[in-house]
Amino acid sequence: MSSDRIYSRIAGTGSYLPEKVLTNDDLAKFVDTSDEWIAARTGIRQRHIAAEGETTSDLAYHASVRAMEAAGVTAAEIDLIVVGTTTPDLIFPSTACLLQHRLGANGCGAFDVNAACSGFLYALSVADKFIKSGDAKTVLVVGAETLTRMVDWGERTTAVLFGDGAGAVVLKADTETGILSTHLHADGGKKELLWNPVGVSVGFKEGEKNAGVAIQMSGSDVFKYAVRALDSVVDETLEANGLDKHDLDWLIPHQANLRIIEATAKRLDMPMDRVVVTVDKHGNTSSGSVPLALDQAVRSGQVQRGQLLLLEAFGGGFTWGSALLRY
Ligand code: UT7
Repeated sequence: MSSDRIYSRIAGTGSYLPEKVLTNDDLAKFVDTSDEWIAARTGIRQRHIAAEGETTSDLAYHASVRAMEAAGVTAAEIDLIVVGTTTPDLIFPSTACLLQHRLGANGCGAFDVNAACSGFLYALSVADKFIKSGDAKTVLVVGAETLTRMVDWGERTTAVLFGDGAGAVVLKADTETGILSTHLHADGGKKELLWNPVGVSVGFKEGEKNAGVAIQMSGSDVFKYAVRALDSVVDETLEANGLDKHDLDWLIPHQANLRIIEATAKRLDMPMDRVVVTVDKHGNTSSGSVPLALDQAVRSGQVQRGQLLLLEAFGGGFTWGSALLRY
């Protein structure tokens, strides 16, 4: 049934993972850890690592080309590019501008959104507003990261968690179906529990430039906040749409830790065969994780047109958010 309402429909998805794979056993050769510990505490078995010289915009480009092919959209048709990333190629220009030029989409608006691991959900929400307001008809939304560039490989509490990768979606204005709602939250008061505390304005450490700076995390605190925040945002999302948790077809969560994913699935009373899990193969790819999982689920035939999907993420900031959509 059509209406006058404008939705943002996902017309195509794409993703890209760098070629190099680092397994838990590979990691255990240079840091004090084991496949057994990593798998039991996180669900991660391996992660992909960007090659030397391979940047976030490279990963974003490959994912975007695949999403555009799937959507049947050319670069000239794109009105706006929004990239969620916390590991941009450069301080400026934005990764979105670099991507725009490489795609040949010159002229359209292009900008990055930094919300750490919630970057894709933030980018998707912004893009959705552009479409709903009528300001854009076709938007490329990307989550892309080379997070392993800021990992301290000698620090076992963080080195085992992260990977590189990118996912993308093409959103098109549609009167039939699409994104039903998005919900964004942040709490800057918890910044020190998960951060990388250097930068242009604060200053890089003497003699280090930006090399050697690393993610710092208080893992068990982040774990507790993440579970609570995600419980709350999934409840908020269902309530805003007058839906029951049993109406959902798929949960497509941020892939940080299988135990966090299982906690959200339990909250939603969803069996794990209706939850898309890629954390075992990808590790935590930050902004890349939700669109990577979505693309995998679409291409494998798990997610079908017409199904109701709940996407959610939690990350540094803290930031967290969700999107409910009819695919
Ligand atoms: O995407 C952004 C959001 N990020 C997250 O959501 C991450 C949330 N946090 C987590 O996923 C978990 O807290 C971790 C996976 C990071 C850690 O799991 P945990 O069950 O909370 O472990 P823990 O930090 O409490 O550490 C337990 C033990 C400690 O040893 P002791 O003190 O009990 O002797 C750690 O030193 O495990 C030790 N440990 C390790 N052992 C082997 C910590 N890291 C490792 C490791 N290998 N890699």
